[in-house]
Amino acid sequence: MRRHPSLTPWIGSAALILASASLTGCDGFGGASGTPDHLERTTDPEVLQRGERLYQQHCIACHGAQREGAEDWRQRNPDGTLPPPPLDGSAHTWHHPYWQLKDMIRFGAEARGGAMPSFEDTLSEADAEAIIAWLQSHWPDEIFEAWTRYDRNHPTQADWEEAMGEPWVTHPDG
Ligand code: HEC
Repeated sequence: MRRHPSLTPWIGSAALILASASLTGCDGFGGASGTPDHLERTTDPEVLQRGERLYQQHCIACHGAQREGAEDWRQRNPDGTLPPPPLDGSAHTWHHPYWQLKDMIRFGAEARGGAMPSFEDTLSEADAEAIIAWLQSHWPDEIFEAWTRYDRNHPTQADWEEAMGEPWVTHPDG
């Protein structure tokens, strides 16, 4: 079989266009080729300052000034709830994909029998994103890397639920 000679350059440039489209794509969930913004560390000082301010206002009382959590955070309280864990990268916060971290911060853990209150009426999604950006700016590089891999494996609630074989409950009433 003989190839038409003029076809080859055409295929070459089409591949180039596709390659550059995927390089510039950063629209989050839009396509398989794009890199979601949250998989890069935020360096925008405004976002980080906002995150720090909100953390100090709403989170510091339980999670600590150095984001160290409660001392015995692995030991359940007498009522069966867990104490506030560290958010400094030393615990398992990296084991929650981005959508789930945002969900936890905005809606708390009461729907799952946990003691963290809901901030639904206080914090917007952008507020939660700023807090996460600030928290993650303190995580060791290898923890942030591990988190990006975890996030890629469970990019949506549906993916997570399928992998875990259980529903993710956000509100006490389901
Ligand atoms: C009244 C205390 C309290 C406050 C205030 C609080 N938390 Fe929590 N937080 C907890 C507890 C308790 C847990 C553990 C919940 C569970 O899994 O049972 C938790 C869990 C978390 C987790 C999951 C961590 C992990 O490793 O699984 C994140 C993320 C988190 N909190 C972020 C925040 C942020 C951000 C704020 C401020 C907007 C905040 N928390 C305010 C008590 C609190």
